[in-house]
Amino acid sequence: MQGVLFDLDGVITDTARFHFKAWSRLAKEKLNVTLPASFESDLKGISRIDSMNRILKFAGMKNEYTAEEVNELAQTKNELYLNEISKLTQADILPGIENLLDELAANHVKLSVASASKNAPFILEKLGLKQQFDAIANPAKVKHGKPAPDIFIEAANQIHLTPQQCVGIEDAKAGVEAIKAAGAVAVGVGDANELHEADSVVGNTSELTYSVLKQAFEK
Ligand code: G6P
Ligand code: MG
Repeated sequence: MQGVLFDLDGVITDTARFHFKAWSRLAKEKLNVTLPASFESDLKGISRIDSMNRILKFAGMKNEYTAEEVNELAQTKNELYLNEISKLTQADILPGIENLLDELAANHVKLSVASASKNAPFILEKLGLKQQFDAIANPAKVKHGKPAPDIFIEAANQIHLTPQQCVGIEDAKAGVEAIKAAGAVAVGVGDANELHEADSVVGNTSELTYSVLKQAFEK
């Protein structure tokens, strides 16, 4: 294991509730629909524009907006979301993550971020973690979002490794699929049934340690 490819939302910090709050408000105010609670988990790992399209489909409004209008709606959601995440601090780092990053660095493992979020650099800055990573893959540079492997391949590239030399960590089903499609070893965080495609699953981030990742890699 020479590198670890980290998802951000749900692995490093818990932003799913902020995404859901922003999407819910947008859906209510602009589309006059109420999103069911299941959308919080269904939209995990899904890019901003793909999420917007799923919501329009749910609202039965997929054909009512031009591509430009869909972009504007997604932009409005992002403004609502940015307002939510402006309050993030080091206290919002999920349990065990700071320790894990220290352990990995001490073992000369390279660290790269493979998030679909265009806000990843801003969030890492807020959490005080930006310097800990060797690279942050830019989701604007890749063609296909998760579950396609693109962002994990790019994250490995950025640290000059192949996905086969890396472990990927994900909390979303689409993300685990993306790691596997890239050819890296997948460690899931969350529900073992939902993430059954992962090579190894832990219940929460406090169980993520260097030795757990190394064991998953060597299995
Ligand atoms: C992550 C989240 C998704 C989000 C996506 C894009 O994958 O899990 O819920 O839609 O990033 O985030 P962004 O900050 O670019 O809108
Ligand atoms: Mg995630």
